[in-house]
Amino acid sequence: MRLQDIQNDFHNELDSIYAKEEIDNFFFMLTESYFDVSRLKLALDPDIVLEKPHFILGALSQLKEEKPIQYILGETEFYGLQFKVNDDVLIPRPETEELVDWILNCHSERSEESSELSVLDIGTGSGCIAISLAKQLPNAKVYALDVSKKALKVAIMNAELNNVEIEFIEHNILNPRHAELVSASQKFDVIVSNPPYVRVKEKELMKQNVLNNEPHLALFVDDDNPLLFYKAICEFSKSNLKEEGRLFFEINEYLGNDMEELLKNYNFKNIELKQDIFEKDRMIKAVNINE
Ligand SMILES: C[S@@+](CC[C@H](N)C(=O)[O-])C[C@H]1O[C@@H](n2cnc3c(N)ncnc32)[C@H](O)[C@@H]1O
Repeated sequence: MRLQDIQNDFHNELDSIYAKEEIDNFFFMLTESYFDVSRLKLALDPDIVLEKPHFILGALSQLKEEKPIQYILGETEFYGLQFKVNDDVLIPRPETEELVDWILNCHSERSEESSELSVLDIGTGSGCIAISLAKQLPNAKVYALDVSKKALKVAIMNAELNNVEIEFIEHNILNPRHAELVSASQKFDVIVSNPPYVRVKEKELMKQNVLNNEPHLALFVDDDNPLLFYKAICEFSKSNLKEEGRLFFEINEYLGNDMEELLKNYNFKNIELKQDIFEKDRMIKAVNINE
């Protein structure tokens, strides 16, 4: 089957669901990944024929069902690194790259800090935050925890793929008995988390392909307690961050003010709310003071 004919099939089947440019992007991501055929290669040789087109036709059926391209390919890019993904983990988002960037910029401003920075990522999912930090801070000791065994399996694979050492911990951060976790490590210089923060009532604002494919354990919190995870992590951080240690969160764009209030109530200082490139309140940081 000619690759160009398959591209036409993509448009015939998908034009009512996606924008034309997006369909071409999907098509070339698939041809590159499955057959090592780039956009340029096909332009130079429009008569390329595939002997076994079933892979790409299978992907077309999944795109018709609005399965995210990252899950179809089984991988994605985050902060310049490759990550394996499957439906046990959230697909890493560009706004989370902004959070990683913020952490790294803050670190480079504090040049007095020892090289042995210790970092904990809570709710690591694919491991994208922990692994990107470990890659950029080769002297840091990085820990990453998640309640999901299946997510941790993916994160472990990604740490190997990116050649970094992370200590992974299976733990429920809502369980106040953190004794084993704490004894396994010292206090942290940095705690970071992108916990579940979408209120159930916000489901109607979300795209169907997210709702139908991404793990709800990673996304949702009850409407009546949307800061549940942030409260638990603040509580944990008060006893597990060093004096002057920093706490970084990705947050729900509608809850920036509530987050500031929460961090004040927990007696953190230097609280700073930051917007993402779409000018939405998306991240917050604070510094620990021991009482
Ligand atoms: C929004 S996802 C973030 C994943 C990844 N850090 C990222 O930024 O793409 C939240 C993660 O928190 C984990 N999680 C949910 N409940 C948890 C709990 N009680 N304790 C620890 N982790 C939890 C989920 O499994 C999921 O991987």
